[in-house]
Amino acid sequence: MAEKFYITTPIYYPSGNMHIGHTYTTVAADTMTRFKRLTGHDAYFLTGTDEHGQKIEEKAAEAGVTPKEFVDKIVAETKKLWELMNIQYDDFIRTTDERHEKIVQKIFRQFYEQGDIYKSEYEGMYCTPCESFWTASQLVEKNGEKVCPDCGRPCKPTKEESYFFRMSKYQDWLIDYIETHPDFIQPAARANEMLNNFLRPGLQDLCVSRTSFKWGVPVDFDDKHVVYVWIDALSNYITALGYGTDHDELMQKYWPANVHLVGKEIVRFHTIYWPIMLHALGLPLPKQVFGHGWLLFGGDKMAKSKGNVQYAQPVVACYGCDALRYYLMREMPFGADGNYTNEAFLNRMNADLANDLGNLVSRTVAMLEKYFDGVLPAWTNAVDEELDKPLHEHCQALPSLVEAQMDKLQFSQALTEIWKVIGECNKYIDLTQPWVLGKDPEKKDRLANVLLTLAECVRYVAVLIYPFMPTTPERIFAQLGVEEEALTTWESLQTFGQLPAGIKVCKGEALFPRIDVKKELEILSPAEAPKAEAKAEKKAEKKAEKKHEEPEYPAEINIDTFFQSKIQVGRVLECTNVPKSKKLLQFRLSFGKDGERTILSGIAQYYPNPEELVGRQIVAITNLKPRMMMGIESHGMILSAVDGNGNLRLVSVGEGVEDGAIVG
Ligand code: ME8
Ligand code: MG
Repeated sequence: MAEKFYITTPIYYPSGNMHIGHTYTTVAADTMTRFKRLTGHDAYFLTGTDEHGQKIEEKAAEAGVTPKEFVDKIVAETKKLWELMNIQYDDFIRTTDERHEKIVQKIFRQFYEQGDIYKSEYEGMYCTPCESFWTASQLVEKNGEKVCPDCGRPCKPTKEESYFFRMSKYQDWLIDYIETHPDFIQPAARANEMLNNFLRPGLQDLCVSRTSFKWGVPVDFDDKHVVYVWIDALSNYITALGYGTDHDELMQKYWPANVHLVGKEIVRFHTIYWPIMLHALGLPLPKQVFGHGWLLFGGDKMAKSKGNVQYAQPVVACYGCDALRYYLMREMPFGADGNYTNEAFLNRMNADLANDLGNLVSRTVAMLEKYFDGVLPAWTNAVDEELDKPLHEHCQALPSLVEAQMDKLQFSQALTEIWKVIGECNKYIDLTQPWVLGKDPEKKDRLANVLLTLAECVRYVAVLIYPFMPTTPERIFAQLGVEEEALTTWESLQTFGQLPAGIKVCKGEALFPRIDVKKELEILSPAEAPKAEAKAEKKAEKKAEKKHEEPEYPAEINIDTFFQSKIQVGRVLECTNVPKSKKLLQFRLSFGKDGERTILSGIAQYYPNPEELVGRQIVAITNLKPRMMMGIESHGMILSAVDGNGNLRLVSVGEGVEDGAIVG
């Protein structure tokens, strides 16, 4: 049976839209999940949102809506963002889900009944942005003010009747657990930090209920109180699996989690409070909590509450999600902090994606076309031991080199290993000089081996980058002519030299076109937001113009969405080529009672004599926003499809339908 792998991200506060920092953790979890699936594991990936607490209540009040209305909107945006980033989570839990709230109440009651929770009075300091309690001695001094040691913002004094969790009771057990499980907290330095700063000095009992606001899970035996958000939030990792219900199959199957990915600022909650909660419930602990570093913006942590953020959407709109995913996983070692800058992103795109990877693929395919008419030759005996063998061996070792790094969550190192082989391939081209071999018919056998070596290396690379860049491999395989799924699996990397003779390569668009960093930087700067939008729009248009290629359709749409299109039968009155355009035909159409209109259509290549269309009835969408093309305004879109012989067929209706009739 496949080995199980359960991975989680933090559940994010929907107090504002998610930025590149949240995207970072989520992409890392998605990459790991895809890698585990590629290597034959049964992986389960959970993410979600942490929707209760005073901060959200305050934000909603500011916006003049209910907390639920407030979070619903942000959650919808968050899900859209994860779709844009190609995130394949198995479940998205919201702490406002009934399935979650009910079990949080049950857990809280159990803690109370077994004596882990007691009622008392709380007096101390509270940091609302962090939803954290501090004693006066834990606060730090900043500009003469006592502030939160985590985020550096002012804390509010609070005094209220509260429930407390007897954390102190579990302190020695936890110290021992951490000391005897060196993999539990990673990177290891964070384990020392927890031991030295929090555990060894002595754990305070934790205040786990609030009465000063209402937006939370009510304590069901004392409903003045709501459950402290962190008790509520941490439980998500098991409530999502059906813990405490009659349907706990997922819990049985996947708990304990293999790894909780979290930012370093919340390692404390995940390695002190969470283990103690689990232990009190009699459950095993997650195998690992990995506290990764921060994306900084201008040297400071990028944060919703500070407003110094970069969002993923404009970057993806301009350069695609694979480029951003690559950058996030490559730029900094997982665990360390790093600055996010558009400049570094654009430079990496040029260096690693356009130059190293893009060029390797395009050169390999171009040479196969040039010297072998695009058909893969068979391997020959013309082997150069010194040049070929090290590359073959390195490439064949690559999967285990990558896996070793991934097992340590060293995403950046895993990519570095892959790019080493890419670099070696580019060097191999310079050393073997295929263009020289190509001039000498006697060297044809040697040339065959050189190009096959390159093509096979490209195949290895395509399989291995999939977890990081899920849409790029299919574009590479299309160019390599690899259609068989068996050549795209992890198993297919066991022995070098799997590409069969006879498959036909097919040169396509550049994978990652080189960009002018200076120009793009201007476009990405916030002051130029309209330019970035225009660029993204142009890209979307270009995509739409690739007529008859499958656009990405949503799985389902509402019937109302469909009925927003006005589709009508029209008759061609005139049809001519648009001057200076190879693509466009200009139609003058009659829609009966609805009058006449001009529509442009990019189908000129199919109709050398456009006037032959005059008199035909066609079908068109007539309520599209008018668009200027080549100085002419087009008022609609004509529907058509390509037949099996590559000829265009205009959509038509049977006889007897009046011009202007509605289709639908
Ligand atoms: O802490 N760099 O939610 P949150 C890297 N709801 N990662 C970043 C980041 C940055 N600049 N900014 C955010 C919470 N992140 C709680 C979690 S879990 C039971 C409850 C990522 O919205 C990183 O993973 O503040 C960080 O830990 C998380 O988002 C914090 O998200
Ligand atoms: Mg935070």
